[in-house]
Amino acid sequence: MKIVSDKTAELQRRAEKARGMGGPDKVAAHKKAGKMTARERLDALLDEDSFQELDQLRHSRSKDFGLADKELPADGVVTGLGRIHGRNVCVYSQDFTVMGGSLGLAHAEKICKVMDLAVESGVPVIGLCDSGGARIQEGVDALGGYAEIFYRNVQASGRIPQISAILGPCAGGAVYSPAITDFVFMVKDTSHMFITGPEVVRAATGEECDFDTLGGTETHSTKSGVCHFVANSEPDCFRQVQELFEFLPQNCFEAVKPRPTADDPNRESAVLDRIAHQDAKRPYQAVEVIREIADDRTFLEVHAGFARNIVVGFIRLGGRSVGVVANNPAHLSGALDISASEKGARFVRCCDAFNIPILTLVDVPGYWPGVEQEHGGIIRKGAKLLYAYCQSDVPKVTVVLKKAYGGAYDVMSSKHIRGDFNFAWPCAEIAVMGPQGAANILFAREIRKAAKPEEKRKELADAYTKQFSNPYLAASRGYIDEVFEARRTRAKVVNAFRFLRNKKVPRIAKRHGNIPL
Ligand code: HXC
Repeated sequence: MKIVSDKTAELQRRAEKARGMGGPDKVAAHKKAGKMTARERLDALLDEDSFQELDQLRHSRSKDFGLADKELPADGVVTGLGRIHGRNVCVYSQDFTVMGGSLGLAHAEKICKVMDLAVESGVPVIGLCDSGGARIQEGVDALGGYAEIFYRNVQASGRIPQISAILGPCAGGAVYSPAITDFVFMVKDTSHMFITGPEVVRAATGEECDFDTLGGTETHSTKSGVCHFVANSEPDCFRQVQELFEFLPQNCFEAVKPRPTADDPNRESAVLDRIAHQDAKRPYQAVEVIREIADDRTFLEVHAGFARNIVVGFIRLGGRSVGVVANNPAHLSGALDISASEKGARFVRCCDAFNIPILTLVDVPGYWPGVEQEHGGIIRKGAKLLYAYCQSDVPKVTVVLKKAYGGAYDVMSSKHIRGDFNFAWPCAEIAVMGPQGAANILFAREIRKAAKPEEKRKELADAYTKQFSNPYLAASRGYIDEVFEARRTRAKVVNAFRFLRNKKVPRIAKRHGNIPL
């Protein structure tokens, strides 16, 4: 009896030490900075009492630079299994109170273990990141540990959803694993991501910057595009992760569980009719159209602050998860530029990887022209969206709302690149370019020679508009399957996706394509 209780006491002593994290002072300082502890975060993210910790007693074998005398509870990362809304998930949560959440070999191996379990069992993995990067004292072991994680991130990519929440400073190697994952969340004021901090930047380039301007939420959600979702607080972040989780499957072989809805699939929309009838030059928000089509008018926007000329995110149609890609005329007239192409391409690939059908809403005047775009690589980077759509074989339904000009018509899931159903509103304009540009090129000589060139230009542009600025040439060729009134869009797309539910396309045998990265 005594032996048992000694052993129990020993286990309790060890477990308590691990659960004490970096000790009361470090934990107090951490909480004073407005942050939750690694363990509190898991409690907030996961279903109540669902967390089962693994490797709580794991510790570093490194002895250099004083590590031999240091206690590093759980080696600075809490790992294990849990559930979100009853669905299995693997998790890790870095503990900043233990050596700044820095990553040593044992820490890395713990993360690798749950990643391996996630892939083998086909469940998503969520990382709660709060780390100063490679643990300097562990040298190449720490670098190797990171590389093992990166390797696993890539092997897992497209098999299971991978989500990263950045909950503190993440520096060096700590940013590359999140960068490979499918979705990155950040929290206002407390999250920062950078390869090297402001001090190193100053020393290397002479540039002055602070944590926020270098790698805060504003920077990564609007400029770099690293961050997909911004939260106001940590609890808000976990709520958002749970919300996103509902739109994703457990793995690429399983479907997302449908959510029953009372929203009539045939619901008509006066708002869509109004948008269709308003002057083509008057912009509208793509989000307004998306909400009108979606079940319960609910839309989870992804990457909301980045490349606002294209809108991407998730809705449900007839209860089923659907990814939406929409040009947004309210920003840059909805034209495609480098950032929009990359944002759209990544989202299309994500949906395709996880068997989520794609609805494409087209209102695009073309690619955004300019020296900056050309020099920045719009040819190579714009091709990513084209490539992503061409490669995807999930069910794809496209609706041309208004403009679909030039190469952008082709790119935005046109029939030619295997849109399954391609629809248009009666006000759609499908042509090589807009009437003014076309008249200027086609009739340059006539306009120049005319007694009143401006009147001639208008007359010729009007003639072009009459002939080409409509969906009927495309419909006559079968490139548009049906033209319908805007108010009926929801019924039409719900029905189309229902029909496509069992779509199967044989894949060509090859190693992999060579996307213009
Ligand atoms: C070991 C580290 C550490 C690290 C922080 N700490 N980062 N220990 N290795 N990488 C320790 C600190 O010494 C300190 O220990 C505790 O964590 C908290 O750190 P502070 O600096 O006091 O906190 P704060 O002021 O909030 O600053 C956080 C920070 C800063 C911005 C993350 O610590 C920092 O800049 N760290 C270094 C970041 C970095 O350059 N990492 C890159 C590593 S190289 P005590 O004992 O005082 O509490 C890398 C390459 C991988 O990652 C490449 C893969 C591609």
